[in-house]
Amino acid sequence: MSKKKFSVNGNLKDSLNTVKFLTERKHFINSAAAALPTRTDDFGVNRVAKSIHPKEQKLVISRIEEHSDIAKSYFFKSETALAYFKAGQYLTFRFEIGNAVVTRSYSIASSPASALNGEYQITVKRINDGFVSDYILHNWTVGNEVTAYAPEGNMTYCPLRDAENIVAVAGGSGITPFLSLARAIDQGDEDCTLTLLYGCRTSDEILFKSELDSLSANNSKINVVYVLSHSDEEGYEKGFVGADIIKKYAPEGNYSIFVCGPGGLYKYLESELPKLQKEKKYIRFEVFSSGKKSDEEPTEYSITVINRGVESVIKASSSETVLCAFERAGIEVPARCHTGECGFCRSKLVSGKVYIPEGEDRRRIADMQFNFIHPCCCYPESDLVVRIN
Ligand code: FES
Repeated sequence: MSKKKFSVNGNLKDSLNTVKFLTERKHFINSAAAALPTRTDDFGVNRVAKSIHPKEQKLVISRIEEHSDIAKSYFFKSETALAYFKAGQYLTFRFEIGNAVVTRSYSIASSPASALNGEYQITVKRINDGFVSDYILHNWTVGNEVTAYAPEGNMTYCPLRDAENIVAVAGGSGITPFLSLARAIDQGDEDCTLTLLYGCRTSDEILFKSELDSLSANNSKINVVYVLSHSDEEGYEKGFVGADIIKKYAPEGNYSIFVCGPGGLYKYLESELPKLQKEKKYIRFEVFSSGKKSDEEPTEYSITVINRGVESVIKASSSETVLCAFERAGIEVPARCHTGECGFCRSKLVSGKVYIPEGEDRRRIADMQFNFIHPCCCYPESDLVVRIN
């Protein structure tokens, strides 16, 4: 009689493994202690999560460095450990200015290693009609305590997603996340190269020039190029950072493009970057939003706000975002990025019409279908009824 060979195929193996896993799990559950642990902090993972994503951080301004009349760096310390971050992330600060409750985000300029040593640095540059930047520059002094949330933001180098060469395009104070990245590369905490194309109007406006020059001269992974739009000076590129300048300085091989700066830079690059024919995943933006639409005569509207079941009616202007209207009225809405990306401010548009600038609609498809909006990047075009989530 011939013997029959018996083989276990993949599906059967999976089934056997599942039975084994279920049996072991049952045994594990039955042998566990009956009482629930009372202090969740006892779990190491919870301690780590709390230190990386604290609900909020109380920071004290330890020193201030003045770059010009309109730009200052603020350094912060804390009695507790600072939340760690990736180079390129930002901190969101909470302000109570008069009746308004406002949040604003600023990219962290210091390196991630500095957070481990107990220090953050941000740089604030005055922007026209910048309600909060003016407030900071005139009111923040050494010793003040301020409230910030955990670091956030996606414009960070990720080897699984990005090319190992980063071409960074910075405009004005948009230099700060790339200063952080350059410092992190120099300290060995990030393993990528950085070609930094830094656009300013004149050489006087360049922030951190001596440090950037030194990083560029002493680290072969960092190359800094200054591009001046309003003056023709020796040693600087002239014009705007567009496709030609990027092509001229981009390293051999594949590269990712990171952009950080004012809305005007974003608008300009919108027409320039397609010339490079890069896949979308290799292009990343961090855009500062002023919360204003400047091109037309503002129209006044009203917004009926439903907040935890309580209704109130506030004034709004077609030239300012819905979030600005909330802030002016002292209505606190969770908000971080102010560019439509993080989703913290997500609210339900019960009725009315809003305008969302092209390229700033970063809602999920389901949110669009069910009329959820990001108030930080939409402008009233009629009276509105909005329910804050
Ligand atoms: S604050 Fe981030 S989406 Fe509005």
